[in-house]
Amino acid sequence: MFTEAQLYSPVTTSVDGDVTVHLSDEHPGVRDPEYRARRNAIAALALSHRPGSRTPRIDYTGEEQRVWRIVSAELARKRERYASVEVIEAAERLGLPTDHIPQLDEVTSKLVPLTGFRYAPAAGLVPLREFFGAFADRTFHSTQYIRHHSAPLYTPEPDAVHEILGHANQLASPRFAAIYAEVGAAVARITGEAALKFLADVFWFSMEFGVVREAGEVRCYGAGLLSSFGEIEEFRQADLRPLNIREMGTAVYDITHYQPVLFCAESIDEIEDVVGGFFATASDDAVAALTGVQPV
Ligand SMILES: [Fe+2]
Repeated sequence: MFTEAQLYSPVTTSVDGDVTVHLSDEHPGVRDPEYRARRNAIAALALSHRPGSRTPRIDYTGEEQRVWRIVSAELARKRERYASVEVIEAAERLGLPTDHIPQLDEVTSKLVPLTGFRYAPAAGLVPLREFFGAFADRTFHSTQYIRHHSAPLYTPEPDAVHEILGHANQLASPRFAAIYAEVGAAVARITGEAALKFLADVFWFSMEFGVVREAGEVRCYGAGLLSSFGEIEEFRQADLRPLNIREMGTAVYDITHYQPVLFCAESIDEIEDVVGGFFATASDDAVAALTGVQPV
């Protein structure tokens, strides 16, 4: 998932227990009552899930499966052209289905032998501490709904395409999975909200929107880019800056547009050293030393 609240459609539960997903007026599915009912039902399943119990299975419709087939074929083509070799090889090992939307337990059964990561259901936004903290247990909270069929290559919010084709293909790399686990361990050390937000922003500019130079070309490894049909072709036009943890943790960004500034590593080794190294030592004091702002 993305880490900014406004990107998610809010989910509420009435006193009668009715679950409602509140789509924005610009959402492609907002005027489709069938889609809205579907979103409510899928969110309700995630909300009723208890850790340790069976992951909810979604009976995806033919239309939803068609969206997956279209977007998964398009993104596979773009991945070959624009993604880091580390991701391309991880995706090949993972072997996600192209003909149907995988259930979360199908994603888990493919990921566990590679890196030990499991997928758990999320109705929408998961609080930062819970979302990142779960990485320590190699658990990834994932939404299960899919974008509206009228716009298969566009979504205003993170859907199963982002969670699975973006994050799972990345989490199939032991090198990237180890960085996620360091994020989870860091969250257990951090108590302040400012340091947590700083960590989330470093994650945003690395595991969500990170790019890396490979064989003279800039390629992407961030899940946000890997799952975006449009942005994956545009990131080379961004203002590419060298990795700098202080800048990544304090940069101001707008989640509703293509990212104008991206941080470009020179190699996967550098991502491990600089980004992974930060997460491995991140604490309230370490962040305060970087920002000059003392924890409150
Ligand atoms: Fe994400």
